[in-house]
Amino acid sequence: MWGGRFAEGPSSVMREINASIPFDKRMWRQDIAASKAHAAMLGAQGIVAAEDVAAILDGLDAVAADYERDGPANDLALEDIHMQSEARLAEKIGPGAGRLHTARSRNDQVATDFRLWTRDAIDEVLAALYALQDALLARADQHAADVMPGFTHLQSAQPVTLGHHLMAYHAMLARDVSRFADARARMNECPLGSAALAGTGFPIDREATAKALGFDRPMGNSLDGVSDRDFALDYLTAATQCALHLSRLAEEFVLWASQPFGFVALSDQWSTGSSIMPQKRNPDAAELVRGHAGRIMGCMTALMVTMKGLPLAYSKDMQDDKPPVFEAHDLIGLCLAAMTGMVESATFRTERMRAVADAGFATATDLADWLVREAGLPFREAHHVTGRVVARAEALGVKLEAMPIEELTAIDARITPAVFDVLSIDASVASRRSFGGTAPERVREAIARARRAGEKA
Ligand code: ARG
Repeated sequence: MWGGRFAEGPSSVMREINASIPFDKRMWRQDIAASKAHAAMLGAQGIVAAEDVAAILDGLDAVAADYERDGPANDLALEDIHMQSEARLAEKIGPGAGRLHTARSRNDQVATDFRLWTRDAIDEVLAALYALQDALLARADQHAADVMPGFTHLQSAQPVTLGHHLMAYHAMLARDVSRFADARARMNECPLGSAALAGTGFPIDREATAKALGFDRPMGNSLDGVSDRDFALDYLTAATQCALHLSRLAEEFVLWASQPFGFVALSDQWSTGSSIMPQKRNPDAAELVRGHAGRIMGCMTALMVTMKGLPLAYSKDMQDDKPPVFEAHDLIGLCLAAMTGMVESATFRTERMRAVADAGFATATDLADWLVREAGLPFREAHHVTGRVVARAEALGVKLEAMPIEELTAIDARITPAVFDVLSIDASVASRRSFGGTAPERVREAIARARRAGEKA
């Protein structure tokens, strides 16, 4: 493509280090679409004759049909998807293919293709996020009143409902949805027409190409147009936080599926056996979701570091923008699909959850609150009294609600039998009616709110 100035071809290592076709062929659809928009605009502006444009458009359709059938070739000599498409076009229509590159550079071309690709990627991630949210909603609805231990420091803290716990993940994913949607809106400006870096002397119509490709407007600065990769970083940071959330949910599945917890039984479809230990049912998919989060964060770090300190405008370093985004996208897609499958098909062992919630003195806070409310103790003193009650209950080996009243009054004479109303885990959960709290009625409201928000989106 630049043969005019060069007497010799590149060395084979040069060819290999330079080529991006092995990975950027993945953007062939976007490359064809952007070329068609550009060609149509060149025709409409009278920059290229109508017959030439018609031949280019037909030729690009023919190239796309070949790609659809066989995929782009892994031909390092053609360097990247842009060169390959142009070479293929020339095979179809002859030297007129060379007119397509008028008023364009691979710099604005790649920036446009990659934006289009990333925008499509976001749409796929959003669909997958909605599917996982739906799965969480369905299971939360089913278990809105089932009591489980709530943890802080992974110690039994206060009873909560399983529905409430699952809805916490729904809330995290809602923020992921908003981050991806936000990134999509911000990236939806078109770099095409920035040309190599400075714009072009041809009378192009950037509004027209932007509109044809579904962008809101052309980017306002040509140097920024060819050098900006914020859109890719926005994608990767959103994917990183999403992966982080999924890793937390995955970790809970790993813990819950373990024998000491026994909170969840994974379906056959979502667990694997051991080749030597027949009793085992391993939560491999959950472990891999947890692990993949590390790789996705690595992708984000890779591109951050690639972009750091690059001067304006385009530098070839930026060719390295695509592999981390592609890798992160494949991984986040798998992670979302796997978590959706696990959430949909898991059996939550609610009797076991309930038994554990019941065993951990998880209503101690309810006793302390009762002492404040009904007996007028300052909270700190109530906390101390409750600590003594728990110690005594532990020594007697009974639950708080099974403590004999004489034992309680011996610790503090202000305790009356009315206290038993608040010591069961059901009473505890039902009492937490503050907005956003775990009471089943509040959880059902949260589910209804989430469903309404989902309908609006
Ligand atoms: N393959 C290149 C990339 O992915 C396309 C842009 C090349 N531009 C250039 N001036 N060499 O970044």
